[in-house]
Amino acid sequence: MAVIRSYDTERHPFGQEIARILRVPADVLHLVHVTRADLLPRGPLTAATETRTGFHDLVVAATTGSATSTARDVYQAFPTFRLQLPGERAVHTWHYDSDPDHRHPDWEINFQIALTDMLGSRATWIESVPGLRDFAPMELTVGQFAVFDGNRCLHGNRPNDTGLSRVSLDFRVLPWSRYAAQTSRRTSVTAGKRFVAGEYYERFHHRAGVLPT
Ligand SMILES: [Fe+2]
Repeated sequence: MAVIRSYDTERHPFGQEIARILRVPADVLHLVHVTRADLLPRGPLTAATETRTGFHDLVVAATTGSATSTARDVYQAFPTFRLQLPGERAVHTWHYDSDPDHRHPDWEINFQIALTDMLGSRATWIESVPGLRDFAPMELTVGQFAVFDGNRCLHGNRPNDTGLSRVSLDFRVLPWSRYAAQTSRRTSVTAGKRFVAGEYYERFHHRAGVLPT
């Protein structure tokens, strides 16, 4: 079952930063398919192309870099930029992240940050516990984020029937104890990187006051 929390959009202006990169007004990010129609894919997206549109090219090119810290827990170094265009899905396969097609390490914890509202068919749909298949939308509004078990719970999208784009970021955190206990390292099917600190992950240093209590 997902846990929904709010974050301070002034202290963490993720949506404004994505809007700046895409050169669109931040308050109409949900119309990005109109204001930046020049970046639209030529045809329907697939699982192989859903993160390789002109929108993704711009965001990825603007956010590459390296984070450094000293210890404990690892997190996905570069968050995944999601764009769900009208009539489209953001993710084209129903899956759980540790399945044989995605091969994420066990015990990852998923986070999703809403940069536009994510309601109805603009939301990620997910079962409440692994195997139950009681799919429901994990609905978020701007300024909220979800913590969920995408590592084991089947999830995916329905075609976006709202006429508005959904923009979001997602990433994973792996507790240090689970990371350190792994005896072998898998490779990300989608990112092509090994699940190690310095490739898919970076180390995260907990500081007092950083995490919500
Ligand atoms: Fe996933």
